[in-house]
Amino acid sequence: MAGDGPKGDIGLIGLAVMGQNLVMNMNDSGYSVVVYNRTVAKVDAFLEKEAKDSRVIPAHSIEELCANLKSPRRVMFLVKAGKPVDDFIEQLVPHLEKGDIIIDGGNSHYPDSIRRTKELEKKGLLFVGTGVSGGEEGARYGPSLMPGGHPDAWPHIKEIFQSISAKSGDEPCCDWVGENGAGHYVKMVHNGIEYGDMQLICEAYSLLRNVLGMSNDECADVFDEWNQGALDSYLIEITANILRYKDTEDGKGGPDTPSLVDKIVDRAQQKGTGKWTVGSSLDMGVPVTLISEAVFARMLSSMKEERVRASQKLDGPSAEFKGDKKAFIEAVRQALYASKIVSYAQGYMLFREAAKEYSWNLNYGGIALMWRGGCIIRSAFLGDIRDAFSEDPELENLLLSPFFKKEVAGCGDGWREAVSVAARHGVPIPAFMTALAFFDGYRSATVPANLLQAQRDYFGAHTYERTDKDKGEYFHTNWTGTGGDITSNAYAA
Ligand SMILES: *[C@@H]1O[C@H](CO)[C@@H](O)[C@H](O)[C@H]1NC(C)=O
Ligand SMILES: *[C@@H]1O[C@H](CO)[C@@H](O)[C@H](O)[C@H]1NC(C)=O
Ligand SMILES: *[C@@H]1O[C@H](CO)[C@@H](O)[C@H](O)[C@H]1NC(C)=O
Repeated sequence: MAGDGPKGDIGLIGLAVMGQNLVMNMNDSGYSVVVYNRTVAKVDAFLEKEAKDSRVIPAHSIEELCANLKSPRRVMFLVKAGKPVDDFIEQLVPHLEKGDIIIDGGNSHYPDSIRRTKELEKKGLLFVGTGVSGGEEGARYGPSLMPGGHPDAWPHIKEIFQSISAKSGDEPCCDWVGENGAGHYVKMVHNGIEYGDMQLICEAYSLLRNVLGMSNDECADVFDEWNQGALDSYLIEITANILRYKDTEDGKGGPDTPSLVDKIVDRAQQKGTGKWTVGSSLDMGVPVTLISEAVFARMLSSMKEERVRASQKLDGPSAEFKGDKKAFIEAVRQALYASKIVSYAQGYMLFREAAKEYSWNLNYGGIALMWRGGCIIRSAFLGDIRDAFSEDPELENLLLSPFFKKEVAGCGDGWREAVSVAARHGVPIPAFMTALAFFDGYRSATVPANLLQAQRDYFGAHTYERTDKDKGEYFHTNWTGTGGDITSNAYAA
């Protein structure tokens, strides 16, 4: 070995399924990966089985891992977010040299990645926090990768990352996202959008089932058909497969075999990235209403026992659908498509604000391309978003792009029909409804917040601006004849 120099192109710590699959993906692309796992027996087991006949190099300590890496060293973690990441960084740092790169590929919360980038920069080390999406399959054959962190790291990891990532046509679904926590922020919003997309599909399904009384197989046919058009996406595709799956071992069975989906308890769980997205939207004052409703819908679903009790006490409308079934299916499709456009528009509004808040140079079209393939929200639609930002990088809002403006306009009638029928039938579709309410609010030059400002001034002397005076000039009115001339603003003095 002496004189040959180290052979490892990149080190990887954490040999759970995601880590193992990324290693084998890197091996396929021709890289030598040095692997380490705290439970060291796991390293040997991996080398004997999955990584047999590969370029993978085992390491039985962090020290050995570092000694086996070419300079600048690149070490990637796929470990549980939170303390384990800080623990491994602490163990790793003594074995690294200035200019070496630490990559966190877990689902870390972006403020941690901002902090780690800054702390490691002080030690001359380059930190990268990267989103990895696409599940186990994606990790093995091509994930969507969303790296951000210290920009000097990018030239050293670009080739590896872009060669193992998913591709959209010839283009890699991986590009530099931005500084410090930007990669994990974009991954977080990806997951939030995923919550929204899933909720929208569930609401469309609920309308087909509960308004039209369609069977799961009939619904599956509708989703298959939608998957041929503008809604073409991974989530629509798997939805059709799920709806066809029968409650038998192999998922097959005659027409009378019950669907597995009907046997699954309607109590949704969550891990928290949707909640983080909503928290960030509240912190930044961006109305990301659709993802919020998707998170709340999961919460309401999990109140199963209370819902069952309430269902025995609270009545709803007993409407019967008398319209044209085919036309209503098309209305639901339009509602789904328009609501989805609103959700992505809101996600991009959040990016715009976050970019300002954290001084990130976000590449909006590039983000759409990273999501185009490999990840859970992958869809044809993301190509259209990418095109909208290519045409106009300064685009103020996705809804204002010529393409999406036309698409939403084309869906308007169906969207409103689906929402009104749902209201009359008492079928809950919170995401469709909030999307429409947002759209109507966003396109309104005036909203009733004038009255709201008056109320605030009436009870709390919070002051208001006037339409016939300059912006920034505040007024207070003695509404009742008993008020003082002290405004609440005076407290700030
Ligand atoms: C190491 O291997 C164990 C056992 O497979 C696994 O549970 C753990 O997540 C792995 N990762 C680390 C960092 O130890
Ligand atoms: C490792 O990659 C090489 C090609 O670079 C391939 O021939 C080999 O089969 C891979 N090993 C495994 C275990 O997949
Ligand atoms: C508010 O109006 C009442 C009745 O007109 C008046 O007596 C009072 O002085 C006013 N207060 C101020 C601060 O102008």
